[in-house]
Amino acid sequence: MRIDILTLFPEMCEAFLSESIIGRARANGLVDIRCTNIRDFAGNKHNRVDDYPYGGGTGMVMQPGPIYDCYDAVTEHGARDCHLIYLTPQGMPLTQQRVRELAEMDDLVLLCGHYEGVDERVIEEIVDEQISIGDYVLTGGELPALVLADSISRMLPGVLANEEAYTEESLYGHLLEYPQYTRPPEWKGREVPEVLLSGDHGKVDRWRLEQSVARTLEQRPDLLEAAEASGELTKEEADILQALRSGEAHI
Ligand code: ADE
Repeated sequence: MRIDILTLFPEMCEAFLSESIIGRARANGLVDIRCTNIRDFAGNKHNRVDDYPYGGGTGMVMQPGPIYDCYDAVTEHGARDCHLIYLTPQGMPLTQQRVRELAEMDDLVLLCGHYEGVDERVIEEIVDEQISIGDYVLTGGELPALVLADSISRMLPGVLANEEAYTEESLYGHLLEYPQYTRPPEWKGREVPEVLLSGDHGKVDRWRLEQSVARTLEQRPDLLEAAEASGELTKEEADILQALRSGEAHI
């Protein structure tokens, strides 16, 4: 898969994308992520890419020309068929389901906005989809684009060392993760739950499922309600939930 990021801050993006799991995935050719500077397409001697908003108001607006020319260069003047996503708080909220779907695509282009926004005409001309990473406002689209590139890349075959890391997650798709522990067995007077040291895999699995259900009920009851409504809960999960709700079980 190839992902192009169109940005005014390519170094900021590169700094993140060169490290850790994504850095390794790129080095191993598992994902091809390129950052292109929109300013290189300013087309004027001051390298300006923004201007005052028509109609007045505070802040500056990114001009359509440089963004379009940058997109046109990256897509090789239309020779490459790409899906362009504009990162904006006005977009649809990002979900793991959408991440999974996007990971099936071959060529994505992520457009990072800045200042007060982007001239609407270039959005109409080239944008296929608008995505928000949450109901809060950041200074630019770089962090959202990196969130998207990271969440998509980790779904690509071979990127995660341990394939289970995402098969298990999809198994428990509607539940939060259970708590994890490592050595030492006792730290600041807190002990690792005994069941995890028991070596009984059946009991460990059951305990983890109970923890996942309990945590989801406590922190994200909306996820459980949605899973119940769509019939996604397994019988075992539904039984644990019922026991927790009736006060029969305390986990
Ligand atoms: N740009 C600024 N804030 C954003 C957000 N929350 N999601 C996506 N893009 C953004």
